[in-house]
Amino acid sequence: MDLYQTIKKRYSCRSYSSKQIEQEKLERILEAGRQAPSAKNLQDWRFVIVTDEEKRKQVAIAANEQMFIATAPAIIIGCSNTDYAMRCGQKISSIDVAIAMEHIALAATAEGLATCWIGSFFPEKVRKVLDIPEQIEIIELMPIGYPADKETHRPSMAKKTQINLEKCKGCDLCIDVCPKAAIRKSGISNKKGYDYVEVDIELCNGCGACYIICPDCCFTLIETVGSAR
Ligand SMILES: Cc1cc2nc3c(=O)[nH]c(=O)nc-3n(C[C@H](O)[C@H](O)[C@H](O)COP(=O)(O)O)c2cc1C
Ligand code: SF4
Ligand code: SF4
Repeated sequence: MDLYQTIKKRYSCRSYSSKQIEQEKLERILEAGRQAPSAKNLQDWRFVIVTDEEKRKQVAIAANEQMFIATAPAIIIGCSNTDYAMRCGQKISSIDVAIAMEHIALAATAEGLATCWIGSFFPEKVRKVLDIPEQIEIIELMPIGYPADKETHRPSMAKKTQINLEKCKGCDLCIDVCPKAAIRKSGISNKKGYDYVEVDIELCNGCGACYIICPDCCFTLIETVGSAR
């Protein structure tokens, strides 16, 4: 699976099968996290892998009672051991851990597994359950395992194209380049007397080809919510 396919396939899984994760897979996935970039190359992240059934239940309870978390055979607890802040003022702990955890999420997807980011949890409760030392900051949780649900992609922000009809000179270049056959002649003339084109917004995938090719800069790319991935 190439990177773009993996990115597209990843989704937040909220039901896991009890099938155990093969040790070598888990190691490859954690290695992908270890290879993440980190500010000053500090790599000051810490990952606790919770597999014990009773502990998983307690972690799920500490995560606002999102009990689906406990259905996963493992829960990764992303932690940081640093309070270093960059010159820009941002603390690196959550940034570095988040990058590493997204590496983990994508590697898991590539291995046929699924994950879910969990930010709704009470850190002090998780600390107590797992006996995590005070100086370690608990950043995020992530159940990982074989999915027992179907991929369900939430609507994401998508680029779509919008056309300024009055600018169009009807050259048809955009019709030829559109990979989705989303642009067609309107059969109506604009104020300048040109038979302008129209865009079927449902078909448009926001690739931007029309935007690039139009000699009269008729297109703008806009962000919309709600298109399927
Ligand atoms: C930082 C962060 C925290 C999140 N916390 C939770 C959570 O506590 N529970 C949950 O079910 N999903 C959680 N999610 C998952 C989001 O709801 C999900 O990523 C979003 O709806 C998009 O869906 P997708 O991941 O399937 O593309 C979180 C995601 C992120 C990035
Ligand atoms: S953005 Fe791409 S898919 Fe959408 S209308 Fe333009 S060429 Fe077609
Ligand atoms: S490329 Fe521009 S000018 Fe030509 S038909 Fe398309 S929108 Fe009109």
